[in-house]
Amino acid sequence: MQKKKILVTGGCGYIGSHTIVDLLENDFEVISIDNLSNGSLKMLDGIEKITGIKVKNYKIDLCNLEDTRKVFKENSDIVGIMHFAAFKSVPESVKYPLKYYINNINSLANVLICAQEFNVNHFIFSSSCSVYGNTTELPIIEETAFGVTESPYAYTKQVGEIMCRDLCKSNENFSTTILRYFNPVGAHDSVLIGELQENPENLVPVITRSGIGKIKEMKVYGNDYPTRDGSCIRDYIHVMDIASAHTKALLHSFSREDANRYEVFNLGSGAGTTVLEMIQAFEKVSGKKLNYTIVPRRTGDVVAVYADNDKARRVLGWEIKYNLEKMMDTAWRWEQTM
Ligand SMILES: NC(=O)c1ccc[n+]([C@@H]2O[C@H](COP(=O)([O-])OP(=O)(O)OC[C@H]3O[C@@H](n4cnc5c(N)ncnc54)[C@H](O)[C@@H]3O)[C@@H](O)[C@H]2O)c1
Repeated sequence: MQKKKILVTGGCGYIGSHTIVDLLENDFEVISIDNLSNGSLKMLDGIEKITGIKVKNYKIDLCNLEDTRKVFKENSDIVGIMHFAAFKSVPESVKYPLKYYINNINSLANVLICAQEFNVNHFIFSSSCSVYGNTTELPIIEETAFGVTESPYAYTKQVGEIMCRDLCKSNENFSTTILRYFNPVGAHDSVLIGELQENPENLVPVITRSGIGKIKEMKVYGNDYPTRDGSCIRDYIHVMDIASAHTKALLHSFSREDANRYEVFNLGSGAGTTVLEMIQAFEKVSGKKLNYTIVPRRTGDVVAVYADNDKARRVLGWEIKYNLEKMMDTAWRWEQTM
């Protein structure tokens, strides 16, 4: 039987590459578009070593409509799109807002234009829990309203979701699934692929970088929050669990007879973990003692954020397979390969 061809944008990046592995293991054919602005062809080499399959990447900028259109012309058998390509640094977006608006909105608009022109009706969009802003309603459910965004990055995700929603309203054949990730961490168990970051901003790569000695002294912002140990609570989820949710969302989209659906799912573990618990998990897995200092709270940090993931488990049949120890183990082994 002919395999279904899926276009993955941002396939040479962190989450896109892990999702490609899951798609290939579920018998899909995959092509990638990635301009390598933050990705690497090393990810495709890793994917080939893991699956035995070489995935083709088109090194083009999705902000160029003509170049994007050419890929769709050459691959008229694409039946689904997973759109990961975007810039993703929250602090960088605060510093260079236009860079984020131009890239994240234009690339999405061009992919959606091509989806319309070439009748590709199953679309999955990478969104983020940042769309909820600083909500205090916990756990966060999909119906929790958009919050006031804390960064241009978060705003591009809100706008992106609305663009997809409006297109679903205007085209009765078009379906979009919005996946709102909480904090994706870890790497594929083989550690042949993982997250490439020069200057990590997120907790887990900061922890592993400190563990290996590339960050001399790690800072923990605040130990006087009203939580079990005084540090902030976030929801961490292994990147391969995020990947499997994409395949399940795609299968769900294909299976529905009532096309023209717009659905939103939270992808989080459903449990909150404190910063100090993350450090302890690292120390247990690595056998190393981390050098960290408690410093005052950071402006803008909220006490706790965690997802209600019931909808994804119930509707998509999504199962979380990786626990905190596995998240830290793969993140730590990946760090040691870099
Ligand atoms: N990693 C996270 O913590 C996180 C959390 C929530 C949401 N997300 C979203 O998930 C998606 C994937 O994130 P990631 O962590 O894999 O990021 P990433 O930077 O590792 O991957 C994104 C890829 O897209 C490519 N790209 C960017 N702009 C492009 C363009 N105009 N044309 C072609 N390629 C382009 C980059 O080269 C990169 O390889 C992003 O949309 C991100 O906003 C990520």
